[in-house]
Amino acid sequence: MAHNKVKVGIIGSQFEADIHAASFQIMPEEAEVVAVASPTPGHAEALARRYSISRVFLDYREMLREKDIEMVTIAAPNGLHKQMACDIAAAGKHVVCEKPLAMTTAEASEMIDVCKRHGVLLLYAEELFFTPKYVKAKEMADQGAFGKVHLVKQSEKHSGPHSPWFWDVERSGGGVWMDMGCHGIAFCYWFLGRPKIESVYCQMGTYVHRDKTQGEDEVVGILEFANGAVGIVENSWTRRGGMDDRIEVYGDAGLTYANLHMGNALPTYSETGYGYAVEKASTTIGWSYPVFEELWNYGFPQEMRHFARCVRGKETPQATGEDGLVVMEALCAGYASAGRGSKVALPFDASGLHKPIDAWLGSRSEY
Ligand SMILES: NC(=O)c1ccc[n+]([C@@H]2O[C@H](COP(=O)([O-])OP(=O)(O)OC[C@H]3O[C@@H](n4cnc5c(N)ncnc54)[C@H](O)[C@@H]3O)[C@@H](O)[C@H]2O)c1
Repeated sequence: MAHNKVKVGIIGSQFEADIHAASFQIMPEEAEVVAVASPTPGHAEALARRYSISRVFLDYREMLREKDIEMVTIAAPNGLHKQMACDIAAAGKHVVCEKPLAMTTAEASEMIDVCKRHGVLLLYAEELFFTPKYVKAKEMADQGAFGKVHLVKQSEKHSGPHSPWFWDVERSGGGVWMDMGCHGIAFCYWFLGRPKIESVYCQMGTYVHRDKTQGEDEVVGILEFANGAVGIVENSWTRRGGMDDRIEVYGDAGLTYANLHMGNALPTYSETGYGYAVEKASTTIGWSYPVFEELWNYGFPQEMRHFARCVRGKETPQATGEDGLVVMEALCAGYASAGRGSKVALPFDASGLHKPIDAWLGSRSEY
């Protein structure tokens, strides 16, 4: 039923846009990317050439006029998500928004409301809900393999982002807690079956990248859930040697560990080096851990396929704007906790925050 594929437009042309385009090609049955929009001359064309995408635009608003496009993915800096999502919704198209959902809880709520008003889906691109190894761990937990789960840990670490805007807290909203803590919060929340988050405690600091950013480059977050379980989220922008992503799950009848990259890699020693090992590995000389089927093991193609099936009404959304809002509130509470040096209870009123990290940097004394 090729004619019935969901037609997709992508906003952005760099790191995550490439992942979106590749993911739709890896699982092409439900959707096809027909357009890409990116403001830097030549960039959209380059992505379009790599993935045989027929239409390119400099201004995403022009792309939104294309009648046949049904779903648009946002792979642009965090500070642009809200406006883009609202414009996409107003054009009557379904929205897939990258993480973190927005810059503030108010923006996240507005995105949810606007999408509802226009009758379109707001799909939150949290791929950890689709990561095969983590999905297996959750299936086992849901079958009772570990008894009552009381502790879930997720950590994601690398040596720092690839693009300047991540380091500029005005455009990103914060440092590594905002960038990757959003994954860990979402993961623990999802894994435990979405119990309310009751409190957040965070310890954070900037240890290695002070010359580059006001944002934190190390963080440990502790989340208390209404069902009595605890989530521990660890993130770093100082971890050399490539991306590291892992979970641990503990219950009264068992436990499981999953190491996403090194656990799936080929332990390798090379004196000459070779092409590519894993995201953000600076060298392939010496010991390295090359991954294979990187996007598949992360769940990106499965995520995009699911979103397309949601547009067709074949599946119920498993990652929504509401999930993104829960994460935004916990992110803000985490920064406030680090600022105060104490645990912060939820619900947390983040309405006065211009961006989450302000609660830590102390530009608003009441936080
Ligand atoms: N799910 C994940 O694991 C994951 C991984 C990386 C990034 N992301 C998220 O994806 C988003 C994009 O990050 P990235 O790594 O691709 O950044 P990037 O810097 O590699 O690319 C950003 C893109 O946004 C485009 N852009 C900037 N201003 C724009 C505008 N006004 N209109 C249209 N496009 C515009 C740029 O031209 C560029 O193509 C961020 O929200 C980031 O947090 C998610």
